Amino acid sequence: MPHTEIARGALDRLPALLADHVGAARVALVTDDSVWLHHGAPLAALLGADTVVARIEPGEGNKTRTSWAALTDQLLAAGCDRDLVVIGLGGGVMTDLAGFVAATYLRGVSWVAVPTTLLAMVDAAHGGKTGVDTAQGKNLVGAFHDPRLIVIDPDALATLPAPIWRDGFAEVLKHGIIADHAYFHLVVDQLPALLAAGGSRLPIVDEIVAGSIRIKQAIVQSDPREQGRRRVLNFGHTIGHAIEQVAHFAISHGEAVAIGLCVEARIGEALGITPAATVEAIASAVTRASFPSQVPVDLDRDALLAATRSDKKSRRGAARYALPRALGEMEAAEGEWAVAVDDAVVRAAIG
Ligand SMILES: NC(=O)c1ccc[n+]([C@@H]2O[C@H](COP(=O)([O-])OP(=O)(O)OC[C@H]3O[C@@H](n4cnc5c(N)ncnc54)[C@H](O)[C@@H]3O)[C@@H](O)[C@H]2O)c1
Ligand SMILES: [Zn+2]
Repeated sequence: MPHTEIARGALDRLPALLADHVGAARVALVTDDSVWLHHGAPLAALLGADTVVARIEPGEGNKTRTSWAALTDQLLAAGCDRDLVVIGLGGGVMTDLAGFVAATYLRGVSWVAVPTTLLAMVDAAHGGKTGVDTAQGKNLVGAFHDPRLIVIDPDALATLPAPIWRDGFAEVLKHGIIADHAYFHLVVDQLPALLAAGGSRLPIVDEIVAGSIRIKQAIVQSDPREQGRRRVLNFGHTIGHAIEQVAHFAISHGEAVAIGLCVEARIGEALGITPAATVEAIASAVTRASFPSQVPVDLDRDALLAATRSDKKSRRGAARYALPRALGEMEAAEGEWAVAVDDAVVRAAIG
């Protein structure tokens, strides 16, 4: 696992952290235009005049090969050679994209993840998955490429718009459901305070960020290439990715995953894997975090089903689902950690 620095004020120490954990190299700061305004410009000043800055417009719609090419061209135009460290600064879109640029630039250079959304701090920045979306689906082109260093400064969360701050709790709740019921209950208890104004400044945020990272990193370490147990991290995501795709990304990743947690729990219930009380606890946590728990009525059901089958975790056309047996415990399915489910069952759970 790369060194993970979690501390308020860590962004101000980035030059020293780079010197300690990466060594001397030219720095390219890769970010989007909004993150640039809030955090990028002061960071670039701190990193020095030699820093190359490459930027794209924000949004999931820009997590594409076109953006990958634009960012890569900016580095080529600046004459960056192999002695380069790419800093991916931003939400999950930017850490996925900057990591993929680093994975492919001159056949691979080092990179550092500096996540600035809750979702990216607890999830996207860890585990080495990088990549882009295509018209056929989410994250269909990419590479495993671990960052050398992950720098997490919870103070950066203070500038997040409320819906984007809330989005991160979909992955936080997922972590509790798949691995740790006490952590799940702790988060659910604190949700109202966390979602109120100034919630990101509460000391409990540091504990939650560290708790989620501990869960995600332990699972990734047990199965880095997703041949078995790592599939549990996909809970909520087969449906979640289908929703994002069919809604043309008008529904955010966090919101789509929150709905996906509820639908996939109902799939587990229909198969006799997930107890009704667990389904209820998941739906009530999702509602407490002010997410919807049902698929919006205007999303085409046939298109959703088709999208679940094109998910890259599907096999021979059947979508596969990681399903909870209880809060904190997932169905192992004889080491597969995912179950093939008939369309009729999925269709009924979508509603
Ligand atoms: N690689 C992985 O393992 C993994 C895991 C989970 C999610 N993801 C990916 O993460 C993406 C979603 O990430 P996200 O929700 O962070 O979205 P995002 O990167 O689009 O960020 C959301 C918005 O917040 C803005 N923003 C970011 N930080 C800010 C800050 N501190 N202050 C103000 N504005 C800020 C961004 O400009 C953007 O407009 C999806 O593409 C998903 O597939 C990847
Ligand atoms: Zn996710």
